Amino acid sequence: MKRLAILLSGRGSNFEAIANNVASGAIEASIAVVISNRPEARGLDIARQRGLDTLVLPSKGMDREAYDRCLIDGLRPFQPDLICLAGFMRLLSAAFVREFPNRILNIHPSLLPAFSGLDAQHQALAYGVKVSGCTVHFVDEYLDAGPILLQAAVPVHDRDTEETLSARILEEEHRIYSEAIRIALSGRYRIDGRRVIVG
Ligand code: GAR
Repeated sequence: MKRLAILLSGRGSNFEAIANNVASGAIEASIAVVISNRPEARGLDIARQRGLDTLVLPSKGMDREAYDRCLIDGLRPFQPDLICLAGFMRLLSAAFVREFPNRILNIHPSLLPAFSGLDAQHQALAYGVKVSGCTVHFVDEYLDAGPILLQAAVPVHDRDTEETLSARILEEEHRIYSEAIRIALSGRYRIDGRRVIVG
């Protein structure tokens, strides 16, 4: 059985969607550990309620290299096959990425490379795009930048607010993250430059 590690910083709805698919058998894996850099993350409560192993590794005041060493040490005993960033609001160092080559996924609420970084839905509305969406990509040491595994598009309506657009995108996030995890775990893909070829 493949082992997932989930890293999160907040609400944890993507984690919850993944956990539901693990519980139903739609994802053939177990969740080995849920790690948060924020002790107050709601995602941690969800994990505890589900009886999953959790680890709180506060990042406040730590520099990136030191924190990532601590993260690697925290993850190692759980031997994850795949690390899923699910609203984990930190950039990972090259040293961390090297430790788990092509084994880290991230979800981002825009069609990358548009609107990387914080508040992607706000950026999309402010720019005036008519279509936005979400992206699951492999993680490298740059911000929201690694090879793209899956994307889903959603329309932006004239009357959208940040809340309504975020909700429409989130529905797609919940769907494609599990699909991306299934592909990544199955190994039925190859990475050719920036392109991820599935099948
Ligand atoms: C999600 O919309 C995710 O795409 C975004 O944070 C939210 C977390 O929600 N991630 C990023 O913006 C990463 N750059 P959740 O905690 O309910 O899954």
